[in-house]
Amino acid sequence: MIEPIIQLIDVTKDFRYRGRFAHPKALQVLKGINFSLYPGRTLALVGESGSGKSTCAQLIVKMQSVTDGKILFKGKDIAGMKSRKEIKEYRSSVQMVFQDPFSSLNPAHSIRHHLTRPLKIHHPKTNKFVSVDQLESLLKMVGLPNDTLQKFPHQLSGGQKQRVNLARAIAVGSEVILADEPTSMLDVSVRLEILNLMQEMKKKLGIGFLYITHDLVTAHTIADETAVMFQGQIVEWGDTHSIIANPQHPYTRLLIDAIPDPDSPFSELSKNNVIFGETAEKIRLISTEKQSQCLQAGPNHFVRKWQTAA
Ligand SMILES: Nc1ncnc2c1ncn2[C@@H]1O[C@H](COP(=O)(O)OP(=O)(O)O)[C@@H](O)[C@H]1O
Ligand SMILES: [Mg+2]
Repeated sequence: MIEPIIQLIDVTKDFRYRGRFAHPKALQVLKGINFSLYPGRTLALVGESGSGKSTCAQLIVKMQSVTDGKILFKGKDIAGMKSRKEIKEYRSSVQMVFQDPFSSLNPAHSIRHHLTRPLKIHHPKTNKFVSVDQLESLLKMVGLPNDTLQKFPHQLSGGQKQRVNLARAIAVGSEVILADEPTSMLDVSVRLEILNLMQEMKKKLGIGFLYITHDLVTAHTIADETAVMFQGQIVEWGDTHSIIANPQHPYTRLLIDAIPDPDSPFSELSKNNVIFGETAEKIRLISTEKQSQCLQAGPNHFVRKWQTAA
């Protein structure tokens, strides 16, 4: 049995707001999230904006702390990691790649600088000196030419910048990459290239991916497993193919229905999908309530129950 690298167990997250008359109000944005990330596998976390996907990633990298529940890294609760050294090591193993490929690159530094630093961090003793060979083999892994080293972030395209971000995650020795909408700011023509690179990194380097997206089509392209999220709850999860071929939850069907491309692999599915005659609004309403009961729809395919119309 392969052990998970990251495991979320009944994770909840409340954000506090100042309510009317200064009464603090708490909004629960995660309502008991469970999922695991494995080496060499991709889990897609799919859902519309505001469902809580990025919050999951922020909790995993300790940018935020959980309200309740646990996040385990190789079986150990990350809440127990207190020292700077421990947190630094953890963050090397679990890296984030963001939507905006420019956001994590420093415009004042060359790509050589951006890649040398993580290599030094990863090999502090042996690697006081980072060789050109090391840098070039890193570039090769992410499909960038050698002259990229001399360039600065503004001289690269969005896709090339995202390749540099992925190269940095490799350099620092990541075991898991949390990719938060990594292609949504890129031209359509390069999106697939970046997804293919992630696939290659998964297969060749055994990196585990959490692929956060609002797009079920790309999830279908690269994810072994999919978790469909709505309003802080995972409403359907399991084998990606099973979810796509046999969607159970009305919200999953709604996502499939929303796919505009008639050439997508879902066109047949969405043609027959009348969503029980309910409107999208109604579906969102019945999917919002916290539900603890689940049903099994296949060997690795589960669906949360939903509130049926009264
Ligand atoms: N730091 C924060 N403070 C208060 N509310 C937040 C914060 N971060 C996210 N939220 C709220 O949590 C919900 C989920 O947000 P997010 O995780 O960003 O969703 P997604 O990534 O799926 O779009 C949203 O309603 C958002 O407004
Ligand atoms: Mg987000």
